[in-house]
Amino acid sequence: MRIDVVSLFPEFVAQCAGFGVVGRAQERGLLSMQGWNPRDYADGNYRRVDDRPFGGGPGMVMLIDPLRAAIAAARAADPAPARVIYLSPQGRPLTQARVRELAAESRIILLCGRYEGVDERLLAAEVDEELSIGDYVLSGGELAAAVVVDAVARLQDGALNDADSAVQDSFEGDGLLDCPHYTRPVEHALGTVPEVLLSGNHAEIARWRRRQALLRTRARRPDLLAAAGLSAEEARWLEAQATDGDPAG
Ligand code: ADE
Repeated sequence: MRIDVVSLFPEFVAQCAGFGVVGRAQERGLLSMQGWNPRDYADGNYRRVDDRPFGGGPGMVMLIDPLRAAIAAARAADPAPARVIYLSPQGRPLTQARVRELAAESRIILLCGRYEGVDERLLAAEVDEELSIGDYVLSGGELAAAVVVDAVARLQDGALNDADSAVQDSFEGDGLLDCPHYTRPVEHALGTVPEVLLSGNHAEIARWRRRQALLRTRARRPDLLAAAGLSAEEARWLEAQATDGDPAG
C-alpha cells in the first residue's frame, strides 16, 4: 500500500511511521510513504501557504493553490487513482471498520490542515472523505494522519508477526473491547494471575475471556454492547453480574 501525506510537516508523520510494526511494514515493502509539502508549491519570496479568513475572526486559513498543487503532485506520483482523505475534527469518526476498508486500498492521500482550517473550496474540489480521530481538537492533522497510517499499516498482510493478533484486537470480530492479559510471573506483589488462564482448558479460557470482554465493554463502552450480538445466555449472565469498580469504567 502507498500513502502520500500532504502536510506542512511531512517529516512529522514520516517519523511517527518509522518505529515498530509500521517501520517494519515499510522495511518489508508492505507500505511506502511519501510526504508533500504545500510550501514547496507556494509562490513568492515568502512561500505563503495561509491567509486571513474572510469575514474576520482569529487564526489563518490555508490557501487553495499550494495545497492543490501538492495534492496534484502526490496524485501524479503513481498512476493508481487515490482517495483523498482530510483529517479534521469535523470528519466522520474513524472506526476499525473504516480502517479495514482503507487498508484494502492500493493507495490513499492524507491531507493535513494547520491553522484554523483549509479553504472550503479546496475541500469541496479535492477531498473524497473527512475523518476525525476523536472529539477533541489537535493543532494540526499530522497526529491524526499518523494514527491512520499506523492503523492501516498493521493490517497489511505480513505486517504483524503473529497473524492472529489483529483478529483478536478490540473491535475486531466480536465488536467488544479486548479482555485483560497476563504474563509471568504468576505470583506478584501486585496480584495473582487468574487461575483459569493456567488451567490449559481452552474452552474455559475462551469463555472467561469472552465474559471479561463483556464486563469491560459494559463498564467502559456500553454503546458497543448493543451492536455486539450477545447470545440470550450471555445477556442473562451479564445482567446478573454486579457492576464493579473498573478503573476505566
Ligand atoms: N485535526 C485536528 N483535530 C483533529 C481530530 N480530532 N481528528 C482529526 N484531525 C484533526
